Amino acid sequence: MDGSRITLKATDMPIVAALRELADRPQARFYLPGHKGGHGAPEALRQWLGEVLWRADLPELPDFDNLLAPEAAIAAAQDLAAQAFGADRTWFLCNGSTAGVIAALSAVCRPDDRVLLPRNAHRSAIAGLIHCGAMPVLASPDYDHVWDLDRGLTPAIVARAIERYPDLAAIFLVSPNYYGQSCDLAALIELAHNPDRAIPVIVDAAHGSHFAFHPDFPASALASGADLVIESTHKTWGRYLRRRCSTFRAIASILIGSIAPWPVCNRPARMQCYWRRWTRHGSRWQRAGDHC
Ligand SMILES: Cc1ncc(COP(=O)(O)O)c(C=O)c1O
Repeated sequence: MDGSRITLKATDMPIVAALRELADRPQARFYLPGHKGGHGAPEALRQWLGEVLWRADLPELPDFDNLLAPEAAIAAAQDLAAQAFGADRTWFLCNGSTAGVIAALSAVCRPDDRVLLPRNAHRSAIAGLIHCGAMPVLASPDYDHVWDLDRGLTPAIVARAIERYPDLAAIFLVSPNYYGQSCDLAALIELAHNPDRAIPVIVDAAHGSHFAFHPDFPASALASGADLVIESTHKTWGRYLRRRCSTFRAIASILIGSIAPWPVCNRPARMQCYWRRWTRHGSRWQRAGDHC
């Protein structure tokens, strides 16, 4: 962590403090958004949502900070979050855990690398593989016959996969799963981190961002030794929608989702290009037939 930054208390809220200061400052708003601090907002919405929300709806101004190259309030808040989660670094995401999953896979994998993942991984993991060109090794998760539910990967499944595919570039786990059940992460990560292999482990903990904060919860993915963890703080914490974190133990470089999804959504050419990549990878994956 950058030692030159001001030391903050865990209860400090650097982003809120910076927003308040800027929102309340008398100013002419020659910048986006077009509602100009609420003056151009629909009256009914202004009355319903209140004045402050509009005044505080600010972009990456020099006096605030920039999510893509944070140096001030966002950097300080990310440092605080890293301390709270017990991570080396934390990045806030605006494009959802989906952006975190794609960024994590892209940071760890090169084209044609093999990645072990459960068949019931979230679709963002498939998007991440397409994005970075890695090849999936799909493992069937354990099945709970009593409750009729797909669970996660077990140490036996992962050990078998590592033996069959010793060149795995990463193991991607989902824990907890969609039903709240956790894997035995410590055992799975120990298998991956065996000194002979040292396979990086990415954990999609979208539904487990609260685990680090109470001893009665299962151990968090970071506490279990994961290298890179994606958490949706809006899913199990009191956060606004589309606010997520990626927390990293040891990996320093990462691509990060941009502040707005509209550059992709608004450009049909980019979408077509993405679609072409998707279909090309789909047929390669079928041929490759890496399953276990
Ligand atoms: C396990 C898991 N991973 C990733 C995601 C993607 O999260 P987001 O909607 O924040 O992009 C979800 C969404 O429900 C999920 O359930």
